[in-house]
Amino acid sequence: MEQPLLSTLDPGWGAGDPSTLIPEHAARRAELEALDPALAELYVRGAEVLAGAADAAALKERVVALLGRERGVVTLALAGIPALAPEQKKVRGRGLNLAKRWLEELEKAKRATLEQAAESREALDVTLPGRRPWVGHAHVLAQIRDELLDLFHGLGYSVATSPEVEHEEYNFTRLNFGPDHPARDAHDTYFVSPEVVLRTHTSPGWVRAMEERKPPLRLVFPGRVYRAEQVDASHMDQFHQMDGLFVDRDVSLADLKSTLNTFARSIYGPRVRTRIIPIYFPFVEPGAQLDVACAICDGSGRTNLGTGEQRCPVCKGSGWSELLGAGMVHPNVFRAVGYDPEEVTGFAFGMGLERIAMARYGIPEIRLFLENDLRFLNQF
Ligand code: DAH
Repeated sequence: MEQPLLSTLDPGWGAGDPSTLIPEHAARRAELEALDPALAELYVRGAEVLAGAADAAALKERVVALLGRERGVVTLALAGIPALAPEQKKVRGRGLNLAKRWLEELEKAKRATLEQAAESREALDVTLPGRRPWVGHAHVLAQIRDELLDLFHGLGYSVATSPEVEHEEYNFTRLNFGPDHPARDAHDTYFVSPEVVLRTHTSPGWVRAMEERKPPLRLVFPGRVYRAEQVDASHMDQFHQMDGLFVDRDVSLADLKSTLNTFARSIYGPRVRTRIIPIYFPFVEPGAQLDVACAICDGSGRTNLGTGEQRCPVCKGSGWSELLGAGMVHPNVFRAVGYDPEEVTGFAFGMGLERIAMARYGIPEIRLFLENDLRFLNQF
């Protein structure tokens, strides 16, 4: 074959094995070899560069160099035929046409394998692990709240709510706080105006509920409350409470006690030990505090943390930890809402949700509840 023809094929082009595409490649090569060794050389080199194309663009470039209508090696060789001697014309013409057809077949086969490879690269790999959709869940305090709502729902209570921005009249006065009670101090309470506060507890909910409804009442009041606290590991200036209120005829302290014990057992398990001690709140009489046996020292007040027996650091040696405030609704509160304290009696209780969560899960730091750190939240 004339040198200028083959030289338009880039010598740097990588070669492949054409017989993986066309099984007859070896036979075809032999056929051309017998006919015209120079043509066989063109065919073999052409077949190898087509087989060696790495992608569709490389294949196209090589096809143009070989079979392109203007400057393709094969096209130019065909154009040279008329100048040949008559007996050469026939052989060269037949050989070139064979080579052309076979190279076109190869091109087709190569294109098919390249397309197949590209497709399988894009195809769905069903063995890949799936991407999990990001599903959120209820905040630990919302979980505690819902658990308590469930429990009290089972005891016949409905849910009521009242405003977070509250008249001091409801937050204090109608709950029998005296005019000089220290809780009214701006050091302890956020005042929005002289008459309006951010509620410091959920107890004002009972006043509003009793003003709107007639007894009997069985209600729980979950919600957020605010206090002007110095923030530290166990104090925040906002937290959550849930009050409960039960008003009917002949409600007694025994009813309160059994309700609180039912509550404590549901939160801490059936074997929890509790005690009720007297304590002052303006809106109840008598007022009480429910304690549970300290989970760390099991109520003994002493612990042995490997360094010898010592006073329990969690309950400070008392053996008990405070769980909630409660009591029998004060007659003045009934009077303030227009109920007759000779006709109805009732009990109330109020608990802090953060305190319950911290005791149950051993959470040492109250600020974690508000920081929205997923490493914390995802543990619950
Ligand atoms: N409201 C009180 C507080 O925030 C807690 C409390 C005590 C609620 C006694 C009550 C109760 O319902 O009866 O400290």
